[in-house]
Amino acid sequence: MAKHTVVTMPGDGIGNQVLPEALRILKAVGFDAEYIHADIGWGCWCKEGNALPQRTIDLLAKHKLGLFGAITSKPKRQAEAELAPELCGKGYSYFSPIVTMRQRFHLDTCIRPCISFPGNPLNFIRKRTNGGFDEPLVNVVVFRQNTEGLYAGIEWSNPPEQVRAALATHPKFKPFTATPGPDLAVSVRVITRNAARKICKAAFDWAQQYKYKSVTICEKPNVLRETSGLMEEEAKSVAKQYPGIALWSTNIDAQTMWLTKNPEEYGVVVASNLFGDVISDAFAGLIGGLGFAASGNIGDEVAVFEPTHGSAPKYAELDPPIVNPIAMFLSAVMMLEHVGEAEKAHRIREAISAVVEEGAVRTYDMMRIPGGAKAISHGAASTVQMTDAVLVKLAERPRTHDAQSAHLEFAEIGSDI
Ligand code: NAI
Ligand code: MG
Repeated sequence: MAKHTVVTMPGDGIGNQVLPEALRILKAVGFDAEYIHADIGWGCWCKEGNALPQRTIDLLAKHKLGLFGAITSKPKRQAEAELAPELCGKGYSYFSPIVTMRQRFHLDTCIRPCISFPGNPLNFIRKRTNGGFDEPLVNVVVFRQNTEGLYAGIEWSNPPEQVRAALATHPKFKPFTATPGPDLAVSVRVITRNAARKICKAAFDWAQQYKYKSVTICEKPNVLRETSGLMEEEAKSVAKQYPGIALWSTNIDAQTMWLTKNPEEYGVVVASNLFGDVISDAFAGLIGGLGFAASGNIGDEVAVFEPTHGSAPKYAELDPPIVNPIAMFLSAVMMLEHVGEAEKAHRIREAISAVVEEGAVRTYDMMRIPGGAKAISHGAASTVQMTDAVLVKLAERPRTHDAQSAHLEFAEIGSDI
């Protein structure tokens, strides 16, 4: 029997191209796992009226570890239009399976590392006043609260009377009382102290484990006084238990501006759901964008790892596939670390790093050329060729690290900033 069981959910579009490539990499490092396929995504919605079928929920509940590709999701009207005719009018409504999965399994901690690979042509560069430039290496890990806040799904168009009545008890609602129901939409931002505390603690624990010098709470407490205020309050309270780690507080808007000024100064960043989503994409843009952005959704029992990118439908039918599988590989790396396979995770990261630094094999995004059928004839590597290049580097690098030394080396990367 294999040591680990992983529920694999390729989903839609390019999820089906990159996930199998990650399995080739996992096999090459000798990850002892059985993989169980599970359905998720737009195809399930169209055929079954449910983008996250119960059978997939059951598999995740049983095996507790998931590797996910990407899904397609479309606006409400299109979702209704594409539902199988026999299911129409039967009360099915589309919900994002990712959001549902996060909520169903309380995957309340989302970890998004944004760490530059030296030599990546997509790395952020900063112009010097003398005309030269610097390439600051970014080493940021974003902790995003994953289940609450503005993504909790508590929202209405044309809110029911009780909701309007409740809102009317707030003096600031006065200017909106005359707005007709159909012209009014409301989304609620709920943040609980427990969840705020938990995400802040997870961020500080990570900072401590990997020797980061600071944790930045990225919110907007001067305006969102209650919800962002609660996040900041908990960050301050948690920080007291970690005397060696500085707590910085930034506003989300200013932070998105500052991160191109001095990105190398940030370490761990923690934020509520929407702001964490925004700031992690912003940092990911500095280290190569969607082809390099990975994430882990961690709950007390279940954990699911996925690239940040979506299903990129416009490239999904290309043969050979052209998208960059590195974000998917890095998601697998995070999964390995999560299950205590740090040495294998380290080897994969090193192999990717060697391929990127060498620069001989680059997918279209790394060449800054348009994607599409012609990308290959313009010199871009295919998805499979990128995997092959990483496999070659893995084969060249025998197992020289034990788990402990791999861990220490990773910690040193953290201490550089
Ligand atoms: P997307 O992430 O699918 O693609 C945006 C663009 O980024 C692509 O057209 C492509 O140019 C580039 N790109 C994405 N992944 C890449 C990769 N691995 N290598 C190279 N280039 C890559 O976002 P988009 O187009 O906004 O959404 C497409 C669908 O994906 C939508 O239905 C959306 O709802 C869904 N989506 C799903 C997500 C998920 O499954 N976690 C996240 C984001 C979007
Ligand atoms: Mg996003």
